[in-house]
Amino acid sequence: MERNAIDEVALEHESLRRHMSNLLSICDALGTRSNCTGCPRDRVCRCIDATNTATEELFTFMVNHFGREERLMKDAGLVYRFHDECELHMQDHGDMSEAMLKVLVKIPDADPVVHLRHLSSCLSSWLDQHICSHDNTLLHQLQNA
Ligand SMILES: [Fe+2]
Ligand SMILES: [Fe+2]
Repeated sequence: MERNAIDEVALEHESLRRHMSNLLSICDALGTRSNCTGCPRDRVCRCIDATNTATEELFTFMVNHFGREERLMKDAGLVYRFHDECELHMQDHGDMSEAMLKVLVKIPDADPVVHLRHLSSCLSSWLDQHICSHDNTLLHQLQNA
């Protein structure tokens, strides 16, 4: 498999982590607050806008990234050689996209801190687990394809 394609997937993982940490840095009191009570209203409005934009960007990036990985699996014939592993990998992409969509439809009116804490608790660990298991296996298979 072409080296560039493998490097690009690895680079996209770095970008995914960067998108995630940008999103979580919107509120500098995320670790100590459980909601936006006490923050000035104009500040909360800016946080809502920033949170919506960053969540949409993260979602778009994730969906494009999943698509790239799935095309690579197909182009390299991995979906035949490692059928069950690829199926589980694609299923995890689907589950995550669905979970993100559910979050996206709720955010316009959501308290940004509640939203960010929710994303932080479910998405950060998912991202690490997915990359450490499914994606690292995929990169290894592509290197040997
Ligand atoms: Fe993946
Ligand atoms: Fe990935």
